Amino acid sequence: MFKGRAWRVVRFGEPKDAAELQEVTWAEPSPGQALVRVRTAGAGLPDLMMTGGHFPLLGAPPFGLGEEAAGEVVAVAPGSRFSVGDQVTGVTAFLDGWGGYAEYAYVREISAIRIPDGLTDEQAGGFPVGFRTAYAGLVERAPVHPGQSLLILGAAGSSGATALQLGKALGATVIAVVGSREKADFCTRLGADHVVNHRTDDVTARVAGITGGRGVDVIYDPVGGETAATAVKSLARNGRIAMIGLASGSPVALDPMDMLLRNYSAVGVLAIPDDDPEAEAAVWSRLADLAKKGAITTPVGRVYGFDEVPRMITEQAAPGAGKSVVRVVG
Ligand SMILES: NC(=O)c1ccc[n+]([C@@H]2O[C@H](COP(=O)([O-])OP(=O)(O)OC[C@H]3O[C@@H](n4cnc5c(N)ncnc54)[C@H](OP(=O)(O)O)[C@@H]3O)[C@@H](O)[C@H]2O)c1
Repeated sequence: MFKGRAWRVVRFGEPKDAAELQEVTWAEPSPGQALVRVRTAGAGLPDLMMTGGHFPLLGAPPFGLGEEAAGEVVAVAPGSRFSVGDQVTGVTAFLDGWGGYAEYAYVREISAIRIPDGLTDEQAGGFPVGFRTAYAGLVERAPVHPGQSLLILGAAGSSGATALQLGKALGATVIAVVGSREKADFCTRLGADHVVNHRTDDVTARVAGITGGRGVDVIYDPVGGETAATAVKSLARNGRIAMIGLASGSPVALDPMDMLLRNYSAVGVLAIPDDDPEAEAAVWSRLADLAKKGAITTPVGRVYGFDEVPRMITEQAAPGAGKSVVRVVG
């Protein structure tokens, strides 16, 4: 048995009312999970959706918050591929009510790796969800090939900035779409080939100029709404839009007749592994190798203290550039 504190959602509402720091006991992990003493935990817009009751995969409170965590393994189930003392990062058992904003967290072994050399604690805590989602989008669901063009919406956000890096590592020409000068500079530093500001630029005209009028091969869309609807006008023939999320509040509206006449497709992306552990292990191994080579690195933005979790969640409504991370141990 392990005892410690955990941020848990006790009712839906504003983060300061919805989330409580509670004393919790963790039992020995079940098969398929490892128990980790958490050092850092990655944050994102889903935290706000979960506290507000707008996250489709979770039921009613109470439940623990935090989709991903990094730290030291303190307990394993029989047959585990990890050992006590391993330093790991992984997706937590948040869908079962056990999150990462806690002194201990269960990580799902199928979605966890030993922390690649060279990652800081903050980079490790924010690694799993963004990069697994980007891999699902850009390799599995809407593959982007070397030399192809990739337009990323919300490109300085948690999902977008990881997709930007993975897209570059896959050999794509990346067009980052952002809403501020600060975020544009951030994406340029991350390696974007072109940056377009959706608040000040004519996105359609800029993309036409960049692609010589051909349009883009793939759109990575964590934003939806009007921004995504505008971007779809810039899809090339045989193009694909990977639908990741709806940071704008609504998914992209698609017109089937337009899809037919302009010959493009749309795919949904949910970064939850299927039941093939070997295939999943190969994905994580590839991501870990890319991290070890320095080809991808968590784009850490603001780092919050453990006592700042409610404020961190509130600020996910309009975060700055990069991935927010919570440091659980000071
Ligand atoms: N499918 C999956 O497996 C998966 C995994 C992770 C996350 N998601 C989803 O992806 C979405 C984004 O999450 P995130 O953590 O990446 O969010 P985030 O870090 O807040 O980034 C979202 C970006 O969207 C832009 N944005 C926000 N509101 C907008 C609006 N009204 N119009 C245009 N742009 C807007 C912002 O960029 P600018 O300020 O530059 O415009 C912001 O940087 C969420 O819906 C989340 O649930 C899905």
